[in-house]
Formats: sequence, structure tokens, C-alpha cells
Amino acid sequence: MAYKNYQNVTILDHPLITHKITKLRDKTTKTSEFKMLVKEISVLEGYEALRHVDTAMVEIETPIEKTVQPVVKRKSLCFVPILRAGLGMADGMLELVPGCTCGHIGLYRNEETHQPVEYYCKLPADISEKDVYLIDPMLATGGSAIDAVKMLKKHGARRITFICIIAAPEGVEAFCKAYPEIPLYIGALDRCLNENAYICPGLGDCGDRTFGTTNGTTEDRPII
Ligand code: PRP
Ligand code: URA
Repeated sequence: MAYKNYQNVTILDHPLITHKITKLRDKTTKTSEFKMLVKEISVLEGYEALRHVDTAMVEIETPIEKTVQPVVKRKSLCFVPILRAGLGMADGMLELVPGCTCGHIGLYRNEETHQPVEYYCKLPADISEKDVYLIDPMLATGGSAIDAVKMLKKHGARRITFICIIAAPEGVEAFCKAYPEIPLYIGALDRCLNENAYICPGLGDCGDRTFGTTNGTTEDRPII
């Protein structure tokens, strides 16, 4: 599904994705299941977002005969999760393309200003040659994604796609204003941001829920 007249936006409103996002939103979903769901949703979203990847023809032999068939040009791809929460999505993307090159960008939101603060950046030297898939489950104000793209571009990335799981309209608008040329894949478009710049209804703090750093009911109780 498209969004307004933004040509770059695709909302992946497949019932399986929607179903899994509903479970992700549920505050009783525990860390282990939450992680699993993020991975499964990323596989489903990635399947669609990687639809246009480059392929190359290779010769193989079936039990019947020799044949020339297409394979994905894995070396032309690069996944870049935004730490921390993007790591959960990277697991899913790597199920699709095992061994794919990964870069990492570390950003966290200042709790008062909601502005992103950069703390880490490690990207492949040949990033300008690659199709870069930036991944982060949450697009709230858009500040983190916009800064991450800025960092990617500074390091030479030329072809970038952004994949998220839940987005707020405010973040989509900001992202599309900044980068109308960058394809943006969204699992669910929510209603709005609240006064703390959290997405409503959203799922809460994705990094905390992925890594069990909340004090609420969502933590798995350790056996030992
Ligand atoms: C979350 C999320 C995004 C960012 C989105 O990360 O994973 O990176 O917020 O918000 P924005 O669109 O308003 O910038 P967070 O800052 O909580 O860091 P964490 O993953 O390390 O917890
Ligand atoms: N980051 C999150 O983890 N959740 C939100 O709702 C907004 C930003």
C-alpha cells in the first residue's frame, strides 16, 4: 500500500506481518518471544524489500543437465542495523542472505530533547558499491533514521533503502521530506507520537523490550 503521494513509501500490510506486529505490541509478550517476532517480521519485510536485488547468472548442474541460473549477488548488498534495536532485525535479514556484509550505526535518543546522539559507526570501506539496507524497528520523530542516512552518505553510500516495523506519521513525513528518493518500507503505520515522542499505540521501547532492560512484566524470568 502506498502512503499519501509519497512514491518512496510502501506499507507492507500483509495479514501475516500485521498479525505478528499485534503480538509484538502486546505488553505481556516476553523478551524471548519479542525477539523471535522481530526476526520473523524482518524476514517477511525483507523478502519484499529485497525484491529488486541484483542477480548474476551462474552455471550449475542439476541431476539432469547443465544449466545457467540466477543467484543473488550477495557481495553487492550491505545491511546496516541502527543499534540497539536494529540488531534484532539484522538477525532476520541475515536469515534471508546469510553471510551478507553488515555495517553498524550506534544512535540513541536523548530522553529530554528526543534528538539522536551518535556513539558508533562501522561501515564497509566499499559501501559506495553496495545496495545498503538500513534497518531499525521504530521510526518515531525520524531523527535517528535521518541522521543514520546522513552518516551513510558521508561514508559514500549511494543506494540506500530504509526498513522499519512501526512508523509514526510524523517520522514518515520528516524522513520523506529529507530523503524523498530513498525507498521506505513500513510494517505498520500508527496514529501519532505522544508527548514523550513514543509511537501510539506502538509497542513501547523497542531496545528495552528486545534486550530485556525494562523493569515491567515483559522480562523473562531467568532460570539461574
Ligand atoms: C529507538 C529506535 C530508533 C529510535 C527512533 O532507539 O530503535 O533508533 O528510537 O526514534 P526517532 O525516530 O524519534 O529518532 P533508542 O533511541 O531508544 O535507542 P536504543 O535502541 O539503543 O534503545
Ligand atoms: N523508540 C522506541 O523504541 N519506541 C517508540 O515508540 C519511539 C522511539
